[in-house]
Amino acid sequence: MPSSNSFIIITMDGGAAVGKSSTSKGLAERLGLMHVDTGSHYRTLTCALLGSGTPAEQGETISKVLETLELSTQIDGRSAKLGINGMVPVDSDLRSPEVNAQVSKFAAIPELRQKLFAYQRSLADLARDQNYAGLVMEGRDIGSIIFPEAAYRFFLDADEATRAARRAKEGQTDSIAARDEMDRTRQAAPLVCPRGATQIDTAHHTLEEVIEKITHHIES
Ligand code: DC
Repeated sequence: MPSSNSFIIITMDGGAAVGKSSTSKGLAERLGLMHVDTGSHYRTLTCALLGSGTPAEQGETISKVLETLELSTQIDGRSAKLGINGMVPVDSDLRSPEVNAQVSKFAAIPELRQKLFAYQRSLADLARDQNYAGLVMEGRDIGSIIFPEAAYRFFLDADEATRAARRAKEGQTDSIAARDEMDRTRQAAPLVCPRGATQIDTAHHTLEEVIEKITHHIES
């Protein structure tokens, strides 16, 4: 186990519906960490841009609208949530069929990712200031770009049928394979398994087993 005064950073990357959120929230609970879901950051900016009538194809307008968006943080239990101009969107807006269909297009825009880079890194300081034992951050580029220096980096995966079944169970309309393809093939911070990260196939383990495996890895 890391010593009680050592702040830990865990990165959790992987495609859509591989189990990142459940695993990260479970770890946050078990290890006393702050949890950050960066997918919701891209969803929040997507909501704001769609709300301002700006489609992903309008690069110049996007840069201008981004300048008007002030990022803030609201802590809800163990999760730090992104607010835009003081407002945190509700989950049903963040996970609407329209946002599911558009978010990967917006997430591929370098200016939009740049807007989030320093903010996402700064959340480690927030977690320290708030006396959490560490930070667990989930996304697509956390172990490769945001915290490549993190001591504990994981990459989750699962076969497509398992992932589609998970989304259907949540009642969501989401083309996860198409989204993953866009996330993997974009130029800016593509979805990759970070070099040296521990890979876990979540299709063949229960959530408890995955959390146990990761906790064991960290403790040893
Ligand atoms: O984790 P999620 O499915 O809610 O993420 C929504 C989208 O956001 C995903 O398709 C790609 C993008 N994303 C990203 O580009 N980088 C991250 N670190 C997290 C998410």
